[in-house]
Amino acid sequence: MRSNNAGIADNHAPILVTGGAGFIGSNFVLDWLAAGLGPVVNLDKLTYAGNPANLASVEASPDYTFVQGDICDRALVARLLQQHRPRAIVHFAAESHVDRSISGPDAFLRTNIDGTFTLLQAAREYYDALTGSERDGFRFLHVSTDEVYGTLAPDDPAFHEDTPYAPNSPYAASKASSDHLVRAWVHTFGLPAIITNCSNNYGPYQFPEKLIPLMIANARQGKPLPVYGDGQQVRDWLYVIDHCRALRTVLERGRVGETYNVGGGNQRSNLEVVRTLCALLDELVPQSKFRPHIELVQYVTDRPGHDRRYAIDARKLEGELGWRAQESFETGLRKTVEWYLANSGWVENVTSGAYQQWVAQNYSGRKAHATAEAAR
Ligand code: NAD
Ligand code: TYD
Repeated sequence: MRSNNAGIADNHAPILVTGGAGFIGSNFVLDWLAAGLGPVVNLDKLTYAGNPANLASVEASPDYTFVQGDICDRALVARLLQQHRPRAIVHFAAESHVDRSISGPDAFLRTNIDGTFTLLQAAREYYDALTGSERDGFRFLHVSTDEVYGTLAPDDPAFHEDTPYAPNSPYAASKASSDHLVRAWVHTFGLPAIITNCSNNYGPYQFPEKLIPLMIANARQGKPLPVYGDGQQVRDWLYVIDHCRALRTVLERGRVGETYNVGGGNQRSNLEVVRTLCALLDELVPQSKFRPHIELVQYVTDRPGHDRRYAIDARKLEGELGWRAQESFETGLRKTVEWYLANSGWVENVTSGAYQQWVAQNYSGRKAHATAEAAR
């Protein structure tokens, strides 16, 4: 652990965000700008998961700069650092969907490992030339996942910062690799980095390949709700704005070289999540011809290597930095369903074109089963 702990005090220098056009990144950028915390430069390649429309409301702001580009492009990253002289890099850019990492792991290794390596090298070169308060305040915040810790049995204690890494999917392995690189760059080169490992997020702007927005989108159209295996896998859900606030807290007060676990303390089985979503849709769309939506559930062939349970112990972040999740799962999920209902145009835009190919690729090979037991 290192003692440099000046925090990012200078509110006028920009931050460089990577992957800011994705789900968490765009929520973070909107939240940051709304809080008046200073300019943001957003470097995003705009893969299928990146959507500049998420940031339409800040596009014209003098505090917002968008750069379309790849984090693997070292010259570009170096140029952006020299040009904008950010006080922090907040690194979201990644390939993030487990099912895609199973059908095509290459992009995960490239962006999540090589991309993080490229950023670390450029950040190191930039940091080494900083002096005074610019140097003391600089931070590299690496946004990672609880999936690096592997899977839990029903009675296992929740993941804490010292839980050994045991990634099971190509996605988790690539994120674990990136975490190890960040750790090494702190330890060996003195880069003032901090890692956060967060549980499953949900909320506005999440691409409908992930469980919650996929189920909402399918239910609205009367399509089957594909529950993998027996639906008893457990995830620990966190409303995305609570995650964004945790990241701000860590940037302001987190200790360099430390890891902070972020989680909502909302463990739910996938089936419970789908049931709650269906009940909310029954209530909020009383005229729907697909009520009761729960009848759309279809058990389908499980995901290979499917992790059974994730749970986060966030006591370090809560005790040391005073962060607390503000949304309960019930309030957060209601807000989320309301957002998707009010933004059906956004859903239509992102689910046209290439999305349909993904749905065909991921779901057409999965057999539908009459019961959860048969789908196991
Ligand atoms: P996302 O897939 O919605 O967005 C990823 C963004 O990164 C997209 O805008 C995409 O265009 C961009 N991107 C991808 N490759 C790039 C490259 N080579 N160069 C530049 N930009 C690139 O992901 P998300 O759900 O917002 O997750 C953001 C980060 O948070 C990821 O690092 C992920 O591992 C982590 N995380 C996500 C969750 C979750 O539940 N979604 C939970 C914990 C941690
Ligand atoms: P997902 O949103 O892909 O996040 P992660 O795999 O990173 O946890 O999936 C959340 C859970 O929902 C996971 O246990 C897999 C399950 N799931 C389904 O049952 N059906 C689906 O169609 C999807 C996308 C996920």
